[in-house]
Amino acid sequence: MSDRGLSRRQYLTTVGGTAVTLSVAGCSGDGGSGGDGGSEQTITAGTAPGFPPFEMKEGGELVGFDIDLLEAVVEQTDYSFEGWEEFEFDSLIPALTNNNIDVIAAGMTINEKRDDTIDFSDPYYSSDQAIVVRADGDFAPESLSDLADRPIGAQKGTTGEGVVQDELVGQEITESQYNAYDNYVLAIQDLENGNVDAVVIDVPVANTFAANRPVEVAFVYETGEKFGFGVRTDDDARQEALNAGLSTVREDGTYEELTQKWFGE
Ligand code: ARG
Repeated sequence: MSDRGLSRRQYLTTVGGTAVTLSVAGCSGDGGSGGDGGSEQTITAGTAPGFPPFEMKEGGELVGFDIDLLEAVVEQTDYSFEGWEEFEFDSLIPALTNNNIDVIAAGMTINEKRDDTIDFSDPYYSSDQAIVVRADGDFAPESLSDLADRPIGAQKGTTGEGVVQDELVGQEITESQYNAYDNYVLAIQDLENGNVDAVVIDVPVANTFAANRPVEVAFVYETGEKFGFGVRTDDDARQEALNAGLSTVREDGTYEELTQKWFGE
């Protein structure tokens, strides 16, 4: 249970420093010399910006909680970090299974449907869904049934879209009243414009939009979601390394520092 890559790395680091760590790790068979396309011992990460404060662009730069957290976690492993690739959210799982990236860090909820195609690290954040409306107070729904016959938005491929499809379409609203966006920023813009009357989105992201734009959380729909880093199903080595790294950054205070930095918690 505790016999993971990390403890070996810590041991090697103590004894011999970085050079020894890397060369020994390279022979350890962790990444497999049998070839996953020359990408052994490296991690290229994929994300979908426009999901503040988890990942967003600021002055052209990719920043956010997921960015800092994954980089801190990878630093605790034998893997070298190769950088970030950006996708729309619904392209992340295909990018991972096609080997374009090795890890997804995108506020991605661990769920059974995704678990069929990919694997996840241990959870690193919890969330429910928020129903966000314009802050002018004209429309103040308190439950899903109050959304009847209203145009509703969410990002394609998300669990927010899942709530709309499973709980609203065909019941409170028609299929054409659901507006699917490539990006939540566009959904929030359309909410401000009056093109939709509500957006279903993860609570911490809803709070961030509400702090910066003329929108507010009308109510929370409890889903009990947990975010994890996505890895390929056959990639036990990276999964274990990320889990060990996550528990280290939780123990050494880095995780708390980052939640304070990005959520003020
Ligand atoms: N947590 C939700 C999900 O997993 C939304 C994630 C959206 N992430 C993003 N980077 N746009 O479906």
